Amino acid sequence: MAVQHRPSDSLWSNGPIFILAVTGAAAGLGNVWRFPYLVSANGGGAFFLLYLVCLAVIGVPLLAAEIMLGRRARGSVVRTYGHVAAQEGRWPIWRIAGWIGLLVCCLLLASYSVVGGWSIAYVFRAASGMFGDLDTLQAAEVFQQLVRDPERLLAWHTLFIAVTMMIVARGVRWGLEEAVRWFMPMLFGLLLLLTGYTAAASGHFSEALDALFLPDFDALSWRAVSLALGHAFYTLSVGMGVALTYGAYVDERVPVLRSAVLVAVADTVLAVLAGLAVLPVLYSSQLAPASGPALIFQSLPLAFGQMPNGTWFGTLFFLLLAFAAWTSAIALLEPPVAYLVEKRKLDRAHATSYVGVFVWLLGVVALLSFSVWAHVRPLGTIPGFRRTTLFDLFNVLAANILLPIGGLLLALFVGWRVSRRSLELDLGAGRGFRVWHFLLRYVTPVAVLIVLIDAAGFVRDLFF
Ligand code: PHE
Repeated sequence: MAVQHRPSDSLWSNGPIFILAVTGAAAGLGNVWRFPYLVSANGGGAFFLLYLVCLAVIGVPLLAAEIMLGRRARGSVVRTYGHVAAQEGRWPIWRIAGWIGLLVCCLLLASYSVVGGWSIAYVFRAASGMFGDLDTLQAAEVFQQLVRDPERLLAWHTLFIAVTMMIVARGVRWGLEEAVRWFMPMLFGLLLLLTGYTAAASGHFSEALDALFLPDFDALSWRAVSLALGHAFYTLSVGMGVALTYGAYVDERVPVLRSAVLVAVADTVLAVLAGLAVLPVLYSSQLAPASGPALIFQSLPLAFGQMPNGTWFGTLFFLLLAFAAWTSAIALLEPPVAYLVEKRKLDRAHATSYVGVFVWLLGVVALLSFSVWAHVRPLGTIPGFRRTTLFDLFNVLAANILLPIGGLLLALFVGWRVSRRSLELDLGAGRGFRVWHFLLRYVTPVAVLIVLIDAAGFVRDLFF
């Protein structure tokens, strides 16, 4: 197999750092603003169990498939698909899966950078103590003022992407790995601190425990299945070549299947901790749990403002959010940079500046869609899409449509187009392998199809 030898500073120092890095890529805004809401609104422990099953049938198999591909070909996502397809005597057209991945990375990173910028902005707002004196409407107004001010958004977005670029430009060992070594313990430490705080100060901790773990099977619906599948897929950041690119820098001896399981466990622990940090704060202020930006930037600051020492802990919360966004943003920038380095033989600094500036421009388009381009509705002529701004479009296209397509291609490619024997050489032929291979061939593609059809349903909902 054509394994290139890379200088050691282009490899992760060890297996645990690699697992931590993939966990950092996986744990992002979705863990904080989506998971707690999904679980508490769809049957608590019953949904949680369902989610664990979904992680096992969709998330872990795809994650392992990506790491395996990356470790085998040791190239960028586009070349990896091309290389493995050639090895297996398949058509080079599979490279299209790599292209889709790169496109998703750029689109998602643009909107991630805008939201990451909001998080940094809110660190300062929360620290000023302003939320202690506001009511619901005023808190909403603070958020609106921020997003409608293109200059301020531009500054925060630029800061966020510039830091991300500085890290990625320094390479695997001195950039990505150093960032992971600092950011991940901080992320974990801040979550523990916030959970300890809500346990001690909110008076609603047990309610949050119930909301996350007490099973209510009556609240489970078919819709919950596709929600759980979709989140299990999104939360592990699979289907776009992030784990594949990280896998290209891993030592041969790191066990792929076990690493994928460990990442899923760590991501779930972080999501549960986020739930235990967020829900009690909301319950203490009688605010209904919501998801997305409204939860994070309107309800939560207000709720923190009403709690003892809320200024401190609210500030820490937004810091946590910024770190969570950064570890994912680094992972989103790496695949396109790795591609340019390989394709154009550029050094990392140049490749990072080209991709970074491109994504920065996309981000500018996204952030202007809250103010001067708020009236730009690219799909305005299509009923149901009348209100879709450019920012929404980036997200829907990347996360709801292209990402599941990338995941489906990945499952079909590794499950059906890579020979079992060569997979066994990569992964060992034990029982774990057999279970993984079975899931990847027969279960994962159906599960990803459900996610895609659900996205189509979402599109249909928008239409009618
Ligand atoms: N997994 C991230 C989250 O849960 C989202 C993400 C998807 C990040 C894809 C990077 C790549 O928020």
